[in-house]
Amino acid sequence: MTTSDFTLIMAPLQGFTDVTFRNVYAAHFSGVDEALAPFISTMGQQRIKPARIRDVDPKNNQTLPVTPQILGNAAEDFICLARHLAEMGHTLINWNLGCPHSKIAKKKRGSGLLMFPETIDRLLETIIAQMPVPLSVKIRLGRKDKKESHDLIQVLNRHPLDHVILHPRTGVQMYRGEADLDAFEAAMEACVHPFVYNGDISDMASFSLVRRRFPDIRRFMIGRGILSNPFLPEEIKGIPSDPARRLSRLRRFHDDLTAAYAGRFSGPGHLIGRMKGFWHYLGPSFKDHDKAIKKILRAPSLEAYFTHVADLFDTGPLFCP
Ligand SMILES: Cc1cc2nc3c(=O)[nH]c(=O)nc-3n(C[C@H](O)[C@H](O)[C@H](O)COP(=O)(O)O)c2cc1C
Repeated sequence: MTTSDFTLIMAPLQGFTDVTFRNVYAAHFSGVDEALAPFISTMGQQRIKPARIRDVDPKNNQTLPVTPQILGNAAEDFICLARHLAEMGHTLINWNLGCPHSKIAKKKRGSGLLMFPETIDRLLETIIAQMPVPLSVKIRLGRKDKKESHDLIQVLNRHPLDHVILHPRTGVQMYRGEADLDAFEAAMEACVHPFVYNGDISDMASFSLVRRRFPDIRRFMIGRGILSNPFLPEEIKGIPSDPARRLSRLRRFHDDLTAAYAGRFSGPGHLIGRMKGFWHYLGPSFKDHDKAIKKILRAPSLEAYFTHVADLFDTGPLFCP
């Protein structure tokens, strides 16, 4: 239990922060209060595919409260999926208006919609009128230009949204450059809805910077920072933890996560691929162990993967975050 006056939300990271990760993470670390799940694409109105919504089934999400996120641009399909999620017990749904990937954006989904505020306006009008539960949105500053945020915020102001989560980059920027705090401030001031900050919180210093700069913000969302330093939410919340136990805690977390995925994935290739994805973010936190990390990332088999991971943990590397 923490007594801080702010909430930490685990960001949706497709391919990483799924229900398996969220549950194992919450069993090993404190500090995160809730999670926004990686997006679920709309799937027409004929049949909801159970495999696509299992991730947010409340039965499997009892350790960390989770909000489902929908990616789509067809009002009727959106409403159909939203109703289904509400029937499952969800009391809030998020709309993904930020996904930067060109394949998705080209189809006017995710950040691809941000250049078309009038379309967003129409969609919100129709969707909210038929939504059984409140809606929040997760946005970027625009698709191509941060100036797009002016019209976008005016549109969002016309609708009764629960809150707005802003990652202050444009879609085409992907993850390059820095989160634009001036643009975040301008959008927050223009917006009538509660705002959530998201972007580049990777350590105490970056958290303190946004906390000081935006004292009225009460909700902060962290994505990649949790993958590269799973202890970060505890540090931010001031939850005491023994530095001498960090490496062994991390190792147990890794082992439990690997075991949980091994029980879920059918082949070793899938399991190694998933775990290497995590090392891509976690690896740089191991200072001066580049060679050992490279070996893990290049492991050709599950056996090699386990050997290299054990070597890294056994040699007692300096875990620096
Ligand atoms: C691998 C990856 C997958 C992501 N998947 C999603 C997603 O499913 N939905 C979403 O709204 N944002 C997604 N994002 C964006 C993150 O939620 C977040 O907005 C972004 O990483 C910035 O926050 P951070 O600097 O704390 O990571 C993804 C980002 C990454 C790197």
